Amino acid sequence: MQPVSKGPIGVFDSGYGGLSILRELRKALPQYDYVFLGDNARAPYGSRSFDVVYQFTRQTVERLFEMGCPLVVLACNTASAKALRTIQQNDLPVWDPSRRVLGIIRPTVEQVGALTSTRHIGIFGTKGTISSGSYPIEIAKFFPDVAVTGHACPMWVPLVENGEYDSDGADYFVKKEIDAILAEDPLIDMVILGCTHYPLLEAKIRRFMPERVRIVPQGTIVAQSLAEYLDRHDDMRMRLTTNGSCTYLTTENPDMFRQAASAFLDEDIEARHTDL
Ligand code: DGL
Repeated sequence: MQPVSKGPIGVFDSGYGGLSILRELRKALPQYDYVFLGDNARAPYGSRSFDVVYQFTRQTVERLFEMGCPLVVLACNTASAKALRTIQQNDLPVWDPSRRVLGIIRPTVEQVGALTSTRHIGIFGTKGTISSGSYPIEIAKFFPDVAVTGHACPMWVPLVENGEYDSDGADYFVKKEIDAILAEDPLIDMVILGCTHYPLLEAKIRRFMPERVRIVPQGTIVAQSLAEYLDRHDDMRMRLTTNGSCTYLTTENPDMFRQAASAFLDEDIEARHTDL
């Protein structure tokens, strides 16, 4: 892979969920150029094995690097949990050690300590994210006094990917998972929406969640963390192009992507198809 001098920030998700992160990145850091890549043709990743998530994520990162991105954000918890470390340790040194791939679990975890009074928190995520144990492992490094209950919500991503996040049918699946996590630990006073698709369900989650429980989506946290990262890393900041543009790529049908993306972005966009 050729070293690049300057280019856009790459943002990747298995599907539409990463758009909830991209929206906040563009709000906080509007000057940069972005390329968003949604692997919609192969979403959801949430129930796939470690190796498959790694192989798929590796292909998408490679594609974003080919497009000249010096920096890629994995705006997907499942990929951050299952593929980030291997890509950072094994692939980056071979591809181009001057580029960077960042995940979204670590920045989220760093905020946990300040957001809970009971020191009991919940994580909603995909099966893959929850079974990887990444959240409890990372939280224990920063806040060993915090009890973490992870809970997988396998129906939530399909509800979002299929545009059913606002439907009456979704109520059942949202309430079911909330009841389950609170039954497991009634002392929880905050839950992290540990899947980038879940912010679209936030209004429903709020409706069924007791008021005393804070709901924490990741978008603003990740945006703040990237801003701080770029403040600390002049070398990377200088390699990012700054025309305020955003290009959208999907491995599925671009018209479908364009329509669904507007729910996340509140604006009309154009999308292009890409093969991996
Ligand atoms: N949006 C992704 C996440 O944050 C996963 C969705 C999927 O299952 O593909 O985990």
